[in-house]
Amino acid sequence: MKPLLRICLIILLSKGVMAQAPSGYNYDESKVPSFQLRSPLVTKDGREVTDRAAWNSQRQTLLKEFEATVYGAVPEQADIQLSGVEVEESLVWNGKAVRDLTELTYTYKDRELRLNLLSYRPVGEGPFPVFLGMNFSGNQTTTTDPAVPLSRNWVMKNPEIGMPTNVATEASRGGRSMRWPLELMVERGYAVCTLCYGDVDPDFDDGFENGLHGLVRSKEFGSIAAWAWGLREVRGYLQQLPWTDRVAVFGHSRLGKAALWAGASDPEFSLVISNNSGCGGAALSKRQVGETLKAINDRFPHWFVEAFHTYNERELELPLDQHLLMACVAPRLLYVTSASEDLWADPKGEQLATEFARPAFELLGGRVGYHMRPGRHNMLEFDWKRILDFADAHWR
Ligand code: GCU
Repeated sequence: MKPLLRICLIILLSKGVMAQAPSGYNYDESKVPSFQLRSPLVTKDGREVTDRAAWNSQRQTLLKEFEATVYGAVPEQADIQLSGVEVEESLVWNGKAVRDLTELTYTYKDRELRLNLLSYRPVGEGPFPVFLGMNFSGNQTTTTDPAVPLSRNWVMKNPEIGMPTNVATEASRGGRSMRWPLELMVERGYAVCTLCYGDVDPDFDDGFENGLHGLVRSKEFGSIAAWAWGLREVRGYLQQLPWTDRVAVFGHSRLGKAALWAGASDPEFSLVISNNSGCGGAALSKRQVGETLKAINDRFPHWFVEAFHTYNERELELPLDQHLLMACVAPRLLYVTSASEDLWADPKGEQLATEFARPAFELLGGRVGYHMRPGRHNMLEFDWKRILDFADAHWR
């Protein structure tokens, strides 16, 4: 190989490795500290959980702990009203699917928040189980369908798909469609619904002023809790429609963290799917492999509550870990994915956390699915095919 070519290749390769595994963090299994994890089936005062009644109370306690220590909670007294629903329904894909473009308006006092949903479902009465998940850069990135309006709210910028700023562009249409095998899902008898996470809470540190924080004027919850609120609200809306009877929640990466928190805390989600959600999602924090608490809290100070920041560089003192969150999905269905090269998200830590959550499902029912895809941080058709197989076998 010519020297210049070789240098280019080395630069490209190291760039790839960097993106998967920023330097200065631990990726070496032999350097993982020893740590203890609480069993989901033992209460804080040491009693064993052996039946459904005891589990219900244990689950409530765990959720309160996650609220206080990690995510925060949208104040219960915030009486947010769904004040408007507009739906435009069309037959699409040569008559093979129905597309709904829906705008939900939420009102609190004199303020409003609008969520724009895009859904596709098979033709017919149903009921069709629906997969609900957020997207990063607008509904228009999930499909080349020209009728899907560009997001009007803050979106994650992504020059790779023709969106250099936080404003949606026509060039980004379909730019993320490889993560959204919509036709496959509909062909297999499922509906799918998405909205942009920026509709609920723009993803930057603005001192909790905009999005849901601005609506309820509260700083008691982080953005992950805000996105989870959006998922729960949309779940409530979907569930009263005539064409569906069950809703799964899913998300990739930071949206996988939000899906896990939404799914763990809202028992109406019958299937909860976390894809490559890593630190603050499916990975065990105490391992400190890849992204650490300090790394996540420094870069994304608005994702979690202040209490979580106090554990920066003190992971071993955390009173809980993420396997307990996943246990809160029991006795429902949980599916977790990792990617082998997604070292920043600690794939092994995600797998272990899933295993440590398992006893709750063994006692209470429900089921846990897991796969490790060879490759990088992403959510691809490979992942979806396995998720759909799990759904076919256990959810329908
Ligand atoms: C960053 C962040 C992760 C997060 C990811 C994403 O890499 O450190 O915690 O999961 O972004 O959401 O894409």
